[in-house]
Amino acid sequence: MNNIAVIFWSMSGNTEAMAQAIAQGAREAGAQAEVLAVTDVTVDQALGYDKLALGCPAMGAEVLEETEFEPFFAALEGRLGGKKVALFGSYGWGDGQWMRDWQLRTEGANANLYGDGLIINEAPDEDGLAKCRSFGAGFAAY
Ligand SMILES: Cc1cc2nc3c(=O)[nH]c(=O)nc-3n(C[C@H](O)[C@H](O)[C@H](O)COP(=O)(O)O)c2cc1C
Repeated sequence: MNNIAVIFWSMSGNTEAMAQAIAQGAREAGAQAEVLAVTDVTVDQALGYDKLALGCPAMGAEVLEETEFEPFFAALEGRLGGKKVALFGSYGWGDGQWMRDWQLRTEGANANLYGDGLIINEAPDEDGLAKCRSFGAGFAAY
C-alpha cells in the first residue's frame, strides 16, 4: 500500500500550489495521492492513509497557522509514532525557523520524517514546482 494524503493549509495559494505539485510527483512515481485542505479532513481520517505529507506556511511569528492547522497538528502529533511523514510549506521574510521547529516536533513524536521539510519562498516558480514534484516522488519511494 502506498496511499498518501497531502494535507495543507494555505491563505494565498502558495502552499496549496506546493501540495498539488507534490501530489503530482508522488502519482508519477506510482503512489496514490489525495490533496486535502486541513479543514476537510479529521485526524482519524488522516491516520487512515499510509503516509502523510503535511503543508503549512510560516505564519504569526515563525509558527504554524494557529486557528486551523495548529489544532489539527496538535491533535495528530501524539499519534504519529511510526508514521511516514513529510513536511512542506511556503514562507516570506523569515529564514525557515518555523519549519525547523516543526521538524523537531515531528521527530519528537517518533514519526519517520522524510528528509528535511521542503520550504519555498512565496509562490513556487517553475524550479520550485519541479522541486515539489521531486519531493513527492521521493516520498512515494520512502
Ligand atoms: C499573518 C502572516 C504572518 C506571516 N508570518 C511569517 C513568518 O513568521 N515568517 C515568514 O517567513 N513568513 C511569514 N509570512 C509570509 C507567508 O509565510 C508567505 O507569504 C507564504 O507564501 C504564504 O503561504 P500561502 O500562500 O500558502 O498562504 C506571514 C504571512 C502572513 C499573512
